[in-house]
Amino acid sequence: MVGIMILHVSANPAVPAIYVFGDSTADVGTNNYLAECGAKVNFPHHGIDYPGSKPTGRFSNGYNSIDFLAQFLGFEESPPPFLYLLRKDKKNFMRNVLNGANFASGGAGLLGITGKRPYKRVISVAEQVQQFAKVRNAYTKLLGNQAEDRLSKSLFLISVGSNDIFEYFLYNQTQIKSENFISTLLYSYEYHLRGLLRLGAKRLGIVSVTPIGCCPIIRIRSENEECSDTMNAFAKKFNLGLEALLKKLSTEGAKPMKYSIAKSYDMTLSVLNDPLSYNFKDGKSACCGNGGRLNAEERCKPDSKVCKDRNALLFWDQFHPTEVAFKLAAMALYGGGDQHIAPMNISQLAILKF
Ligand SMILES: *[C@@H]1O[C@H](CO)[C@@H](O)[C@H](O)[C@H]1NC(C)=O
Ligand SMILES: *[C@@H]1O[C@H](CO)[C@@H](O)[C@H](O)[C@H]1NC(C)=O
Repeated sequence: MVGIMILHVSANPAVPAIYVFGDSTADVGTNNYLAECGAKVNFPHHGIDYPGSKPTGRFSNGYNSIDFLAQFLGFEESPPPFLYLLRKDKKNFMRNVLNGANFASGGAGLLGITGKRPYKRVISVAEQVQQFAKVRNAYTKLLGNQAEDRLSKSLFLISVGSNDIFEYFLYNQTQIKSENFISTLLYSYEYHLRGLLRLGAKRLGIVSVTPIGCCPIIRIRSENEECSDTMNAFAKKFNLGLEALLKKLSTEGAKPMKYSIAKSYDMTLSVLNDPLSYNFKDGKSACCGNGGRLNAEERCKPDSKVCKDRNALLFWDQFHPTEVAFKLAAMALYGGGDQHIAPMNISQLAILKF
Protein backbone atom coordinates (compact mmCIF):
# COMPACT_ATOMS: atom_id res chain seq x y z
CA MET A 1 0.00 0.00 0.00
CA VAL A 2 2.82 2.44 0.65
CA GLY A 3 4.44 1.41 -2.60
CA ILE A 4 1.94 3.05 -4.88
CA MET A 5 2.10 6.47 -3.38
CA ILE A 6 3.11 9.33 -5.59
CA LEU A 7 5.58 11.66 -3.99
CA HIS A 8 5.84 15.19 -5.18
CA VAL A 9 9.24 16.81 -5.04
CA SER A 10 9.07 20.52 -4.52
CA ALA A 11 11.80 23.00 -5.30
CA ASN A 12 11.07 24.93 -2.14
CA PRO A 13 11.34 22.96 1.08
CA ALA A 14 8.06 22.70 2.96
CA VAL A 15 9.73 23.78 6.22
CA PRO A 16 12.53 26.26 6.86
CA ALA A 17 14.70 23.75 8.74
CA ILE A 18 14.84 20.22 10.12
CA TYR A 19 16.44 19.27 13.45
CA VAL A 20 17.12 15.61 14.04
CA PHE A 21 17.63 13.80 17.35
CA GLY A 22 18.12 10.19 18.33
CA ASP A 23 20.25 7.15 17.60
CA SER A 24 21.75 5.23 14.69
CA THR A 25 18.43 5.15 12.85
CA ALA A 26 18.86 8.89 12.35
CA ASP A 27 22.63 9.50 12.62
CA VAL A 28 24.25 10.96 9.49
CA GLY A 29 27.82 11.03 10.77
CA THR A 30 27.82 12.50 14.27
CA ASN A 31 29.90 9.68 15.70
CA ASN A 32 32.71 10.36 13.25
CA TYR A 33 33.47 13.43 15.33
CA LEU A 34 33.75 11.52 18.62
CA ALA A 35 37.33 10.34 19.01
CA GLU A 36 36.59 7.68 21.60
CA CYS A 37 33.33 6.39 20.14
CA GLY A 38 33.20 2.68 19.34
CA ALA A 39 30.04 2.97 17.24
CA LYS A 40 31.56 4.38 14.08
CA VAL A 41 30.67 3.16 10.64
CA ASN A 42 32.86 5.37 8.49
CA PHE A 43 34.33 2.55 6.44
CA PRO A 44 33.38 1.10 3.06
CA HIS A 45 30.36 -1.22 3.17
CA HIS A 46 28.31 1.32 5.12
CA GLY A 47 27.55 3.75 2.36
CA ILE A 48 28.16 1.36 -0.51
CA ASP A 49 24.91 2.58 -2.11
CA TYR A 50 25.23 6.19 -1.00
CA PRO A 51 26.01 8.59 -3.87
CA GLY A 52 29.65 8.00 -4.78
CA SER A 53 29.70 4.89 -2.55
CA LYS A 54 30.85 7.19 0.22
CA PRO A 55 30.98 5.97 3.82
CA THR A 56 29.44 8.91 5.68
CA GLY A 57 28.79 7.40 9.06
CA ARG A 58 25.23 6.37 8.27
CA PHE A 59 24.17 3.00 9.68
CA SER A 60 22.90 1.77 6.35
CA ASN A 61 24.12 0.80 2.91
CA GLY A 62 22.89 4.18 1.71
CA TYR A 63 20.45 6.75 3.01
CA ASN A 64 18.35 6.42 6.16
CA SER A 65 14.71 7.39 6.77
CA ILE A 66 15.61 10.90 7.86
CA ASP A 67 17.44 11.45 4.58
CA PHE A 68 14.42 10.35 2.59
CA LEU A 69 12.04 12.43 4.68
CA ALA A 70 14.20 15.50 4.12
CA GLN A 71 14.21 14.82 0.39
CA PHE A 72 10.44 14.31 0.27
CA LEU A 73 10.09 17.64 2.07
CA GLY A 74 12.01 19.31 -0.74
CA PHE A 75 15.56 19.44 0.64
CA GLU A 76 18.43 18.26 -1.52
CA GLU A 77 20.09 16.55 1.44
CA SER A 78 19.14 15.99 5.03
CA PRO A 79 20.90 18.39 7.41
CA PRO A 80 24.54 17.66 8.30
CA PRO A 81 25.72 16.64 11.76
CA PHE A 82 25.72 19.47 14.27
CA LEU A 83 29.31 18.52 15.14
CA TYR A 84 30.32 18.95 11.52
CA LEU A 85 28.82 22.45 11.48
CA LEU A 86 30.44 23.25 14.81
CA ARG A 87 33.91 21.99 13.97
CA LYS A 88 34.41 22.15 10.21
CA ASP A 89 32.89 25.45 9.25
CA LYS A 90 33.15 27.43 12.48
CA LYS A 91 32.99 30.78 10.77
CA ASN A 92 29.51 30.19 9.41
CA PHE A 93 28.22 28.09 12.28
CA MET A 94 25.55 30.55 13.40
CA ARG A 95 24.14 31.01 9.92
CA ASN A 96 24.40 27.33 8.93
CA VAL A 97 22.50 25.97 11.91
CA LEU A 98 19.48 28.07 10.97
CA ASN A 99 19.07 25.69 8.03
CA GLY A 100 18.96 22.56 10.14
CA ALA A 101 21.26 20.19 11.99
CA ASN A 102 21.43 16.55 12.97
CA PHE A 103 22.31 15.68 16.55
CA ALA A 104 21.56 11.95 16.41
CA SER A 105 24.32 9.64 17.60
CA GLY A 106 24.49 5.92 16.90
CA GLY A 107 24.23 3.91 20.11
CA ALA A 108 22.57 6.72 22.05
CA GLY A 109 19.47 6.48 24.16
CA LEU A 110 17.07 8.29 26.39
CA LEU A 111 19.10 7.35 29.45
CA GLY A 112 22.49 8.96 29.84
CA ILE A 113 24.12 5.62 30.55
CA THR A 114 22.92 3.99 27.33
CA GLY A 115 25.70 3.40 24.82
CA LYS A 116 28.53 4.06 27.29
CA ARG A 117 29.33 0.44 28.02
CA PRO A 118 29.45 -0.97 24.51
CA TYR A 119 30.69 2.17 22.74
CA LYS A 120 32.38 4.23 25.44
CA ARG A 121 31.28 7.57 24.06
CA VAL A 122 28.02 8.50 22.35
CA ILE A 123 25.90 11.63 22.60
CA SER A 124 22.87 10.98 24.74
CA VAL A 125 19.57 12.68 23.95
CA ALA A 126 20.07 14.94 26.98
CA GLU A 127 23.33 16.18 25.44
CA GLN A 128 21.67 16.51 22.05
CA VAL A 129 19.08 18.84 23.55
CA GLN A 130 21.87 20.84 25.19
CA GLN A 131 23.53 21.16 21.81
CA PHE A 132 20.27 22.38 20.35
CA ALA A 133 20.28 25.14 22.97
CA LYS A 134 23.34 26.51 21.12
CA VAL A 135 21.28 26.57 17.96
CA ARG A 136 18.54 28.40 19.79
CA ASN A 137 21.09 31.04 20.84
CA ALA A 138 22.08 31.50 17.22
CA TYR A 139 18.43 32.04 16.30
CA THR A 140 17.99 34.71 18.92
CA LYS A 141 21.21 36.48 17.96
CA LEU A 142 20.59 36.46 14.22
CA LEU A 143 16.83 36.72 13.96
CA GLY A 144 15.75 38.51 17.11
CA ASN A 145 12.02 38.42 17.46
CA GLN A 146 11.57 36.46 14.23
CA ALA A 147 13.36 33.51 15.82
CA GLU A 148 10.27 32.07 17.39
CA ASP A 149 8.32 32.11 14.15
CA ARG A 150 11.01 30.31 12.14
CA LEU A 151 11.49 27.73 14.87
CA SER A 152 7.78 27.10 15.11
CA LYS A 153 7.72 26.29 11.40
CA SER A 154 10.74 24.00 11.61
CA LEU A 155 10.44 20.26 11.93
CA PHE A 156 11.90 18.29 14.84
CA LEU A 157 12.42 14.61 14.09
CA ILE A 158 13.24 12.18 16.88
CA SER A 159 14.02 8.48 16.60
CA VAL A 160 15.16 6.86 19.84
CA GLY A 161 14.37 4.25 22.47
CA SER A 162 15.55 0.92 21.11
CA ASN A 163 19.09 1.10 22.51
CA ASP A 164 17.75 1.68 26.01
CA ILE A 165 15.65 -1.46 25.74
CA PHE A 166 18.44 -3.49 24.13
CA GLU A 167 20.87 -2.61 26.86
CA TYR A 168 18.39 -3.26 29.61
CA PHE A 169 18.27 -6.86 28.44
CA LEU A 170 21.97 -7.14 27.66
CA TYR A 171 23.51 -5.43 30.72
CA ASN A 172 20.76 -4.22 33.07
CA GLN A 173 23.05 -1.45 34.25
CA THR A 174 20.32 0.55 35.94
CA GLN A 175 19.02 -2.46 37.89
CA ILE A 176 15.51 -1.09 37.49
CA LYS A 177 12.73 -3.59 38.05
CA SER A 178 11.12 -4.82 34.84
CA GLU A 179 7.73 -3.35 35.62
CA ASN A 180 9.28 0.11 36.13
CA PHE A 181 11.68 0.22 33.24
CA ILE A 182 9.39 1.59 30.54
CA SER A 183 7.98 4.29 32.79
CA THR A 184 11.55 5.33 33.58
CA LEU A 185 12.26 5.67 29.86
CA LEU A 186 9.09 7.65 29.29
CA TYR A 187 9.84 9.93 32.20
CA SER A 188 13.18 10.62 30.63
CA TYR A 189 11.62 11.14 27.18
CA GLU A 190 9.18 13.65 28.67
CA TYR A 191 12.05 15.56 30.23
CA HIS A 192 13.88 15.80 26.89
CA LEU A 193 10.76 16.77 24.97
CA ARG A 194 9.95 19.49 27.48
CA GLY A 195 13.48 20.77 26.97
CA LEU A 196 12.91 21.03 23.22
CA LEU A 197 9.51 22.64 23.64
CA ARG A 198 10.98 25.25 25.96
CA LEU A 199 13.56 26.03 23.28
CA GLY A 200 10.83 26.68 20.72
CA ALA A 201 10.03 23.35 19.03
CA LYS A 202 6.42 23.21 17.82
CA ARG A 203 6.32 20.44 15.21
CA LEU A 204 7.51 17.05 16.38
CA GLY A 205 7.81 14.01 14.13
CA ILE A 206 8.42 10.97 16.29
CA VAL A 207 9.67 7.58 15.15
CA SER A 208 8.79 5.00 17.76
CA VAL A 209 10.41 1.64 18.44
CA THR A 210 10.17 -1.26 15.97
CA PRO A 211 9.89 -4.93 17.01
CA ILE A 212 13.53 -4.94 18.08
CA GLY A 213 13.22 -8.51 19.29
CA CYS A 214 13.25 -9.50 15.61
CA CYS A 215 16.64 -7.98 14.76
CA PRO A 216 19.04 -10.60 13.42
CA ILE A 217 21.29 -10.25 16.47
CA ILE A 218 18.42 -11.14 18.77
CA ARG A 219 16.98 -13.89 16.57
CA ILE A 220 20.24 -15.83 16.61
CA ARG A 221 20.03 -16.11 20.39
CA SER A 222 17.12 -18.50 19.92
CA GLU A 223 17.44 -21.99 18.55
CA ASN A 224 14.82 -21.52 15.85
CA GLU A 225 15.72 -17.95 15.10
CA GLU A 226 12.53 -16.68 16.66
CA CYS A 227 11.92 -13.09 17.72
CA SER A 228 12.20 -12.25 21.40
CA ASP A 229 8.62 -11.76 22.55
CA THR A 230 9.81 -10.17 25.76
CA MET A 231 11.77 -7.45 23.99
CA ASN A 232 8.94 -6.89 21.56
CA ALA A 233 6.50 -6.52 24.44
CA PHE A 234 8.75 -3.83 25.95
CA ALA A 235 8.85 -2.04 22.60
CA LYS A 236 5.06 -2.09 22.36
CA LYS A 237 4.57 -0.86 25.88
CA PHE A 238 7.05 1.93 25.27
CA ASN A 239 5.21 3.03 22.12
CA LEU A 240 1.83 3.09 23.83
CA GLY A 241 3.20 5.22 26.63
CA LEU A 242 4.88 7.52 24.13
CA GLU A 243 1.62 8.07 22.27
CA ALA A 244 -0.09 9.03 25.50
CA LEU A 245 2.77 11.34 26.44
CA LEU A 246 2.62 13.20 23.14
CA LYS A 247 -1.12 13.56 23.39
CA LYS A 248 -0.70 15.08 26.83
CA LEU A 249 2.04 17.50 25.76
CA SER A 250 -0.01 18.61 22.74
CA THR A 251 -2.69 20.05 25.00
CA GLU A 252 -0.41 22.14 27.17
CA GLY A 253 0.38 25.82 26.95
CA ALA A 254 -1.03 28.76 25.05
CA LYS A 255 0.06 27.54 21.63
CA PRO A 256 0.52 23.80 22.03
CA MET A 257 2.87 21.80 19.84
CA LYS A 258 1.66 19.55 17.01
CA TYR A 259 3.03 16.12 16.38
CA SER A 260 3.02 12.99 14.28
CA ILE A 261 3.94 9.64 15.74
CA ALA A 262 4.83 6.78 13.45
CA LYS A 263 3.35 3.38 14.06
CA SER A 264 6.80 1.93 13.61
CA TYR A 265 5.97 -1.28 15.42
CA ASP A 266 2.99 -2.37 13.34
CA MET A 267 4.49 -1.13 10.12
CA THR A 268 7.64 -3.17 10.61
CA LEU A 269 5.77 -6.19 11.89
CA SER A 270 3.69 -6.40 8.75
CA VAL A 271 6.88 -6.45 6.69
CA LEU A 272 8.47 -9.04 8.97
CA ASN A 273 5.39 -11.24 8.69
CA ASP A 274 5.18 -11.06 4.95
CA PRO A 275 8.45 -9.81 3.47
CA LEU A 276 7.62 -11.10 -0.01
CA SER A 277 4.67 -8.82 -0.51
CA TYR A 278 6.99 -5.87 0.14
CA ASN A 279 9.51 -7.19 -2.38
CA PHE A 280 11.95 -8.51 0.20
CA LYS A 281 13.07 -12.04 -0.43
CA ASP A 282 14.62 -12.17 3.06
CA GLY A 283 13.31 -10.50 6.21
CA LYS A 284 15.59 -12.24 8.68
CA SER A 285 19.25 -12.20 7.78
CA ALA A 286 21.81 -9.44 7.62
CA CYS A 287 23.36 -8.32 4.36
CA CYS A 288 26.73 -7.31 5.78
CA GLY A 289 28.42 -9.83 8.05
CA ASN A 290 30.92 -12.61 8.36
CA GLY A 291 28.66 -15.58 7.82
CA GLY A 292 27.23 -17.83 10.49
CA ARG A 293 23.57 -17.89 11.45
CA LEU A 294 21.56 -15.26 9.60
CA ASN A 295 24.91 -13.74 8.66
CA ALA A 296 24.58 -11.98 12.00
CA GLU A 297 27.10 -13.55 14.31
CA GLU A 298 29.50 -10.67 13.84
CA ARG A 299 28.96 -7.03 13.23
CA CYS A 300 29.52 -5.45 9.85
CA LYS A 301 33.25 -4.78 9.84
CA PRO A 302 35.79 -3.64 7.26
CA ASP A 303 36.56 -7.29 6.42
CA SER A 304 32.91 -8.43 6.27
CA LYS A 305 31.21 -9.63 3.13
CA VAL A 306 28.37 -7.58 1.67
CA CYS A 307 25.45 -9.25 -0.09
CA LYS A 308 24.87 -8.42 -3.73
CA ASP A 309 21.13 -8.01 -3.79
CA ARG A 310 20.80 -5.31 -1.19
CA ASN A 311 17.32 -4.31 -2.26
CA ALA A 312 16.05 -7.79 -1.49
CA LEU A 313 16.93 -7.81 2.21
CA LEU A 314 15.16 -6.07 5.06
CA PHE A 315 18.26 -5.98 7.28
CA TRP A 316 21.55 -4.37 6.45
CA ASP A 317 23.46 -5.57 9.51
CA GLN A 318 22.77 -7.11 12.92
CA PHE A 319 20.53 -4.20 13.91
CA HIS A 320 19.75 -1.87 11.06
CA PRO A 321 17.49 -1.91 8.03
CA THR A 322 18.70 -1.61 4.48
CA GLU A 323 18.31 1.63 2.57
CA VAL A 324 15.29 0.32 0.72
CA ALA A 325 13.60 -0.57 4.03
CA PHE A 326 14.41 2.90 5.38
CA LYS A 327 12.80 4.33 2.27
CA LEU A 328 9.66 2.29 2.68
CA ALA A 329 9.34 3.60 6.23
CA ALA A 330 9.98 7.18 5.15
CA MET A 331 7.26 7.00 2.48
CA ALA A 332 4.76 5.79 5.05
CA LEU A 333 5.77 8.56 7.45
CA TYR A 334 5.65 11.26 4.86
CA GLY A 335 2.44 10.47 3.09
CA GLY A 336 0.87 7.48 4.79
CA GLY A 337 -2.56 7.15 6.30
CA ASP A 338 -3.35 6.77 9.98
CA GLN A 339 -2.51 3.09 10.03
CA HIS A 340 1.10 4.28 9.54
CA ILE A 341 1.29 7.57 11.34
CA ALA A 342 -1.11 9.60 13.48
CA PRO A 343 -2.76 11.97 14.12
CA MET A 344 -1.39 13.27 10.80
CA ASN A 345 1.42 12.43 8.42
CA ILE A 346 4.66 14.38 8.09
CA SER A 347 3.62 16.12 4.87
CA GLN A 348 0.60 17.48 6.72
CA LEU A 349 2.53 18.32 9.88
CA ALA A 350 5.02 20.31 7.81
CA ILE A 351 2.47 22.72 6.39
CA LEU A 352 -0.15 22.79 9.12
CA LYS A 353 -1.19 26.33 10.05
CA PHE A 354 -1.76 26.90 13.74
C1 LIG B 1 17.40 -5.93 36.28
O1 LIG B 1 17.70 -5.88 37.65
C2 LIG B 1 16.58 -5.76 38.52
C3 LIG B 1 17.09 -5.62 39.95
O2 LIG B 1 17.98 -6.62 40.26
C4 LIG B 1 15.66 -6.94 38.32
O3 LIG B 1 14.52 -6.81 39.15
C5 LIG B 1 15.24 -7.01 36.86
O4 LIG B 1 14.43 -8.13 36.60
C6 LIG B 1 16.45 -7.07 35.95
N1 LIG B 1 16.01 -6.97 34.55
C7 LIG B 1 16.38 -7.81 33.58
C8 LIG B 1 15.84 -7.61 32.21
O5 LIG B 1 17.14 -8.74 33.79
C1 LIG C 1 -0.95 12.15 4.07
O1 LIG C 1 -0.17 12.60 3.04
C2 LIG C 1 -0.72 12.64 1.72
C3 LIG C 1 0.34 13.20 0.77
O2 LIG C 1 0.83 14.44 1.19
C4 LIG C 1 -2.03 13.35 1.72
O3 LIG C 1 -2.53 13.53 0.43
C5 LIG C 1 -2.97 12.53 2.54
O4 LIG C 1 -4.21 13.11 2.63
C6 LIG C 1 -2.45 12.20 3.91
N1 LIG C 1 -3.08 10.98 4.33
C7 LIG C 1 -3.83 10.88 5.42
C8 LIG C 1 -4.67 9.67 5.58
O5 LIG C 1 -3.87 11.70 6.29
